[in-house]
Amino acid sequence: MMMDLAVFSLLIASALFVTISGVVDDGFGNPIKQVVREENDEQLLNLDHQFTQFKSKYEKTYKNQVEHDHRFRVFKANVRRARRHQQLDPSAVHGVTQFSDVTPKEFSRKYLGLKRRFSLPNDTQKAAILPTSELPTDFDWREKGAVTPVKNQGLCGSCWSFSATGALEGAHFLATKELVSLSEQQLIDCDHTCDPQEANSCDTGCRGGLMNNAFEYTLKTGGLMKEQDYPYTGRDRSVCKFNKTMIAAKVSNFSVVSADEDQIAANLVQNGPLAIAINALWMQTYIAGVSCPYVCSKNQDHGVLLVGFGSAGYAPLRLEEKPYWIIKNSWGSMWGEKGYYKICRGTPNICGVDTMVSTVAAVHTTPQ
Ligand SMILES: *[C@@H]1O[C@H](CO)[C@@H](O)[C@H](O)[C@H]1NC(C)=O
Ligand SMILES: *[C@@H]1O[C@H](CO)[C@@H](O)[C@H](O)[C@H]1NC(C)=O
Ligand SMILES: *[C@@H]1O[C@H](CO)[C@@H](O)[C@H](O)[C@H]1NC(C)=O
Repeated sequence: MMMDLAVFSLLIASALFVTISGVVDDGFGNPIKQVVREENDEQLLNLDHQFTQFKSKYEKTYKNQVEHDHRFRVFKANVRRARRHQQLDPSAVHGVTQFSDVTPKEFSRKYLGLKRRFSLPNDTQKAAILPTSELPTDFDWREKGAVTPVKNQGLCGSCWSFSATGALEGAHFLATKELVSLSEQQLIDCDHTCDPQEANSCDTGCRGGLMNNAFEYTLKTGGLMKEQDYPYTGRDRSVCKFNKTMIAAKVSNFSVVSADEDQIAANLVQNGPLAIAINALWMQTYIAGVSCPYVCSKNQDHGVLLVGFGSAGYAPLRLEEKPYWIIKNSWGSMWGEKGYYKICRGTPNICGVDTMVSTVAAVHTTPQ
């Protein structure tokens, strides 16, 4: 994963600030209180305690003492990192998460899974420009029954398949008034769609893929089966068990949405939840609130689902409330706000959220 130079130097700078002096300015006019000093005995005991709690909460076991000690070192580094994230993203809460025992590199390799985009699949359309004058201030597809419960991709880089099923589940709901959970494993096992210009960007199960490729596959193959008929195993590319007679939802067409916050909102309201891509660096330590980091790479490495937006989000360490996007993630409901992430709206393309947005339309099918 590449990090913007700006992000990198700011994180370094912030790390230096907190170890060198007491109260400093973060460069944006906000004081940063020193939270990390050389750890004294009390803090070390506290970290010991936090690690014990972490292991019990997330049912972590390590194969031997060497592994355990290594994970404890990674954990300590992540606790410090979460404190830095807290300073640079004050409208969210950052801290210990289920990913606190993996390094950022491991995190990006094992729990994300978005490939780079070179060109769009042949059947990709361009979304029509919609009127934006009557947009609501708050909108949430969860309240309208278009969103299935939060799923968990586990140790598999299959984020792209969850983003794609989420968008089709919403579109299918709009077309049929039926909410049906759809199969990611079908995409992982059967979808090997390739970018005609770059073989390196084929969909390869747990090793990554792209939402638009998944829509192309689904259009060509006829549709997706239900989750219950083709359940998730999180194992990489087993034999494809797709059975055409058991198709539950079909793609009619899919389009890319222009990189404009109002167009994204209008497409969301009109067409249902949208498949989007994001840079997930800040999500490793995210707990709650509206994430609005001072700097964030626009290099997208994670596929997620945009389900709504709000005008005034709870921002614990800020006086003003922030407008936000509501994002469904695929890391289970113990992560973030019951499995959801909020990122600020009105900061165009923050963390790359505006520039890989797709909407899908489902065929009206009679439920069996
Ligand atoms: C797109 O069309 C080209 C030319 O017809 C074909 O070679 C390629 O395989 C197609 N790609 C996809 C993803 O269908
Ligand atoms: C496909 O599903 C149908 C209906 O459930 C079933 O009768 C058929 O045996 C299945 N085909 C295969 C190849 O599994
Ligand atoms: C996509 O499919 C839907 C539903 O079949 C249809 O209403 C819409 O016009 C189509 N959009 C495009 C751009 O073809």
